Amino acid sequence: MKAVKILTEPNPILRKKAKEVEKIDENITKVIEDMTLALEQSEIEGLAVAAPQIGESVRIILVRVREQRDKEGKVIQKAIPLTAYINPQITKFSKEKISLEEGCLSCPYLYGKVERPKKVHLESINIQGKKVKINASGLLARIFQHEVDHLDGILFIDLITDKKTIRKAKPKNEEPNI
Ligand code: CO
Repeated sequence: MKAVKILTEPNPILRKKAKEVEKIDENITKVIEDMTLALEQSEIEGLAVAAPQIGESVRIILVRVREQRDKEGKVIQKAIPLTAYINPQITKFSKEKISLEEGCLSCPYLYGKVERPKKVHLESINIQGKKVKINASGLLARIFQHEVDHLDGILFIDLITDKKTIRKAKPKNEEPNI
């Protein structure tokens, strides 16, 4: 099987503003296939990946989230099967913000708290070229913001306000590596 590596900081491709996808052609399908491989092959379990993280400076993110339940067994996060969002744009941010710990496949073993809007509205195109609109909260809202930042050359480590929250750790596959 083809091996697809995830680039890590300080690779300059991670700092470039990615280009809009103009046409969903073979090249774009290939990028999405490679992103899928990268997510599957990653040593650290990741929930999402952005195209620049595999060296492709185009505006595509790929998300895959498992169902999460609280101690009482109540679903707190619905499963999201592997989904590609093309030219994703966050068009609305909630005023309410929340501080959550983030990690990134491009900054391995590093975690820190980032304050971001709690809810967002995302507009994008799916692989069939159709417009998709999603209201996201919780983990998904966090993932969308972190991934769209990747398309603009921003890493979560740039956004950590309280440096005391930074910790280095071997991931336990429970951390939000996105
Ligand atoms: Co990331």
